[in-house]
Parts: sequence; structure tokens; C-alpha cells
Amino acid sequence: MDIRNGHLFWDGCDTVALAKRFGTPLYVMSQSLIEARFAELQTDFVAKYEKVRVAYASKAFSTLAMLKLVEKQGYSLDVVSDGELYTAIKADFPAEHIEFNGNNKSVEELELAIDYGVERIIIDSLQEVDLIEKIAAAKNKTVAVLFRITPEVKAATHSFISTGQKDSKFGIPIEPAILFPQVEKAVQAPHLDFLGFHFHVGSQLADNTAHLAAVTIALDLAKIVREKFDYTITELNFGGGFGVRYTKDDVRQPFAYFTDPMMEKVLAFCQQENFPQPAVVIEPGRSIVAEAGISLHTIGAIKELPAIRKYVSIDGGMTDNIRPGLYAAHYSGMLANKADQPTSEVVTVSGKACESTDILVKDIQLPTVATGDIFVTFTTGAYGYSMASNYNKLRIPAVVLVHKGQAELIVKRQTLDQVIENEVIPASLK
Ligand code: LLP
Repeated sequence: MDIRNGHLFWDGCDTVALAKRFGTPLYVMSQSLIEARFAELQTDFVAKYEKVRVAYASKAFSTLAMLKLVEKQGYSLDVVSDGELYTAIKADFPAEHIEFNGNNKSVEELELAIDYGVERIIIDSLQEVDLIEKIAAAKNKTVAVLFRITPEVKAATHSFISTGQKDSKFGIPIEPAILFPQVEKAVQAPHLDFLGFHFHVGSQLADNTAHLAAVTIALDLAKIVREKFDYTITELNFGGGFGVRYTKDDVRQPFAYFTDPMMEKVLAFCQQENFPQPAVVIEPGRSIVAEAGISLHTIGAIKELPAIRKYVSIDGGMTDNIRPGLYAAHYSGMLANKADQPTSEVVTVSGKACESTDILVKDIQLPTVATGDIFVTFTTGAYGYSMASNYNKLRIPAVVLVHKGQAELIVKRQTLDQVIENEVIPASLK
């Protein structure tokens, strides 16, 4: 990011010009910043250790163009639904680099995944072993599987995005009476290749304690499985969850802060227990795309309530960024067209949806705001576009990929016709 002639530039592009050219609301993704995160992962993890892989969690930001960047990097892809899988198929993402997660995969989704030949399916429920074995047998295929376990660690994050605790809809609890019969079945199933265990402890973590505690639990489990079933697992997946910087109060730890001590534990365990080193996979989503993305909105109505608050309204809001309303998430922002002006007032940036929680940023310092100014929100690259909705029949914004001064549209703005394209008036109402 830099400032030229009073305008904010993002990856070499004038954001005010982008707003004019593509309209607002607009998501702007910097290819250089995404690639910088890839580069950090390469040095901190991929090139540093043997048998490690990165599977980008596409839920954070899944578009055809993004998947091309992931493929170019040689990374795998984590998908959790037919829609995410279909996006991967349409992007020609190599099947042998796709992992399929999800706590309630339908028969149709599993069939689509197995037909496409996805690399791994992460089993997340007690019915799935039988189901996958049955589908794989019918298709005469072998499917590589891992079990997502709930490692019972408490992650220091918003409870809505904490997933590693026992009382969770995700994963299989490490209760011997629940987990081991499933493991035994998977080991014996003729069409399953049981590889090992997966966990994901939570999201937006700035502290590695939960990850490290879960690694210990997964390694203990590997040892127990070897003793109990005479079976050596060959892969562990430690999920994602690495936090990013939304405001100056947040810390973004380097990937190595998480991956180095996790790998140390794995390597020490292998040596101590004479255990062959398993493959280790991580599934970062947010940490790859969040800080690469910004959102641009145009300021419309301004409402001053003397001695109370000044509301400045934007032409989007919770429909393109649900995170403040859903998780009380905080964001930072500025006026893209007054980027060199000193701040002079405190305002609350509110959205356009009919919902009082539709407040994007409360009490933010900005230069004097006028209708027509362009408000930029930072760190919206993850879980912004991917969680966008059509509430109030607002249209899902366009997404632009910027790279060293060049801007390309990668998602078109929804049209009003598209907003109602699936609706049907039955004959009885005509
Ligand atoms: N792997 C699994 C199995 C997951 O469930 C998730 C996220 C990830 C990887 C990627 O986690 P990340 O690296 O992005 O933290 N909508 C919420 C986040 C939900 C995350 C759900 N699972 C938010 O906007 O904060």
C-alpha cells in the first residue's frame, strides 16, 4: 500500500480509480500480497521440512482465479461442499491435490468427489466410514481417508469460530468407545486407505498453545493406534487457524511461530518412538488472503446526532462483510480519496442493510467525511466475499485482482436479474 496524490494505492493501483472503473462496493485482492504469503510459507514450512504440504482452505476466498494462483503455487486445496468442489473442477484444479472436509457430506457430494478422484476425504462423522466404503466399493475405487478428531483443546478466539472442543458439531471425539471402532473399520475396509488424523482447533489465533496441545494429542493417538491395531499412520493434518491483523491491536505471527514448534514435536516424537515420519499438512485459509484484500465503498447518507454520534453510510455493509455483525469483529479503514489528510472527526460507518447490527466500524477517526468519498476497509480478503449474501436483495459485489499496477475483474458484480433469476411465479398466482 502507498499513497500518491492523496489517493490510496493497492498493489500499484489507484483505489479511487478502481472504484470509478468497477463501481462500489468492490473487493480488491492484491496478487503480490497473496504471493508474499505463499513465499513465507515456502521458506518457513514447505522448503524447511520433508514431507509437508499446504492445502489452501478455499472457504476463505474461493474463486476460479484464486484457485489458479493456488495451483500455480503447487499447493493442495481444501474444499467442504459441492460448490467449493465444483469451483475447483471448473478451475481444472488437479483432483490429486484436493482434500474434502465437511461435517455432513451428502451422498451426492461424496460421489462427485470420488468420481473426480480427490486426493483425500477427511471423515468427520460416525456414519461416513460405512458410507464412503460403500460408494468406493460400488465404483471399484480406493479412497484415502483421515479422521477429523476433536482434540478437546480450548482455543483463545471468539467462541463462534472455536472448533476443537469436545462439544462441537465438528470431528469425532477421542473417546475410545467412539473413535476406535471407526478406526478399526477404516483399517479393515477394503476400499479405504486410512492415512491418519486431522484437527482444526479454531480460527484467527495469535497464540500457538491450542495447536501445540492438539499436536501432542494427535501424536499420542498415532502411538495408541500402532499399539492397538498394529497400524502405522502416515499422515497428520493440523488444520488452519493462523491469525491475521485486522487492527493495530492484532498480531500476525509468522507461519514459523506455529509450524516450527509443531514440526519439532512431530520430529521428536518420531525419533523417540521410532515412528516413521508422517506427512504433515496444514490448511491455512485466512492467513493467505485476509490481508491481501480490501473493500471499497462509497459514502452516501451522513447523519449527525449532536453529542451522540455521526453515522456515515456506505453502499454495502453486512451483505459484503458479515463479520462485524456475526463475531463483533473489528476492522480498520480510511478514506481512499483523502489518504493524505489528517483525521479530524470520529464517525461510525454503517451499512445499508435493514439490521441495527449492520455497523462496519464503530467510532473510527477519519478526515472530514463527505458524500461520495471512498471508504476502504482493510483485511477483508478472507470470509468477506465468501460469506456475502443477498439480504435485502443487495447485489454481491465484484472482485478485482490487482497486481503491480494492473487490475483485472475476477468476479463480475451480480446483476439485478441474477438476484431474482431462480425465482418462479407458480401458475396459480399468475
Ligand atoms: N481447515 C478446516 C477444517 C476449517 O474448518 C477451517 C476454517 C480452516 C481449515 C481454515 O481456517 P483459517 O486458516 O481460515 O482460520 N467465517 C469465520 C471463520 C470460519 C473458519 C471455519 N473453518 C470468520 O470469518 O472468522
